[in-house]
Amino acid sequence: VGGTLSCASCGRGYPLVDGIATLISAEDLDRYQPFLAHYRRVRAAEGWLVDPATWRTLPYPPPDMPHAALWRRRSRSFERLLAVLADRGRGRPLAILDLGAGNCWLTWQLARRGHRVEALDINVDASDGLGAVPEDAAGAFGRTQAALERLPYMAGQLDVVVAAASLHYARDLAAATAEIARILRPGGAMILLDTPLYRTAAAGQAAVARRLADQRLHYGSDGAGTSGSGYIVVWALRHACRRAGLSYREVPLHGRPRALVGRIRRAFGSAWRTTQGAQMPLVIGERLC
Ligand SMILES: C[S@@+](CC[C@H](N)C(=O)[O-])C[C@H]1O[C@@H](n2cnc3c(N)ncnc32)[C@H](O)[C@@H]1O
Repeated sequence: VGGTLSCASCGRGYPLVDGIATLISAEDLDRYQPFLAHYRRVRAAEGWLVDPATWRTLPYPPPDMPHAALWRRRSRSFERLLAVLADRGRGRPLAILDLGAGNCWLTWQLARRGHRVEALDINVDASDGLGAVPEDAAGAFGRTQAALERLPYMAGQLDVVVAAASLHYARDLAAATAEIARILRPGGAMILLDTPLYRTAAAGQAAVARRLADQRLHYGSDGAGTSGSGYIVVWALRHACRRAGLSYREVPLHGRPRALVGRIRRAFGSAWRTTQGAQMPLVIGERLC
């Protein structure tokens, strides 16, 4: 769980700390520190941290958990993801990267179904980041601290890159999409879930402004609250996919019947303010060649 990884071409060393490969330079990591400090504070205050027993139940936490309604919604996209993976794998384990994996609940769920999975995140926090994985589950998959805009993998290696509620944190959507496409094998797929997509930049900006105002009110700081613009506009994602050589397909998941809106709005709390006006389809971008 300790030691050093060396770059085969330049010889530079990267430490392995508590089983997590640190594949980001200290200078690059420094740039994310304001975001990480703010993010940890908000996540703890909003009640997102879970104990190891609850971690294993995700995305089906006990009904009295904070954000239980949101997790119910997430469980539906998770089930759809499993169906898509089953279809792609046809019984064979897939090589999957969980991008922006957070506490790795999804990485674990995929690994225990036999897939070869790697979790990547900038956050190694012991309560909510890569370090939050219970000890007896940590051997089931690899963990890498790196930035999603600069993926430390060779080209054409992976069957699937899954990004659950994380790609909207990218500082540069086009660069992140190109990186994802680069590490996919031809025919492999990027799959986005629980990722708020807006039809217009104005709608995305309005949602982010609401969230920042909320964070100013409750936490006294805002600017570092997202690592990127904090929203994705559909046409920009489509464009990024096309330029990266990925197809683009949306699988609708969550209808928003009127009767449900009020209930979801109350259950989401400040998370709702981020996603208001957004759709969260499963997005599948297949590498064409
Ligand atoms: C809302 S959380 C989602 C976590 C997890 N995928 C889930 O479904 O619960 C977003 C994650 O993206 C990570 N993240 C944000 N910016 C990042 C970046 N530039 N590179 C890598 N990870 C990043 C955060 O640290 C956080 O863990």
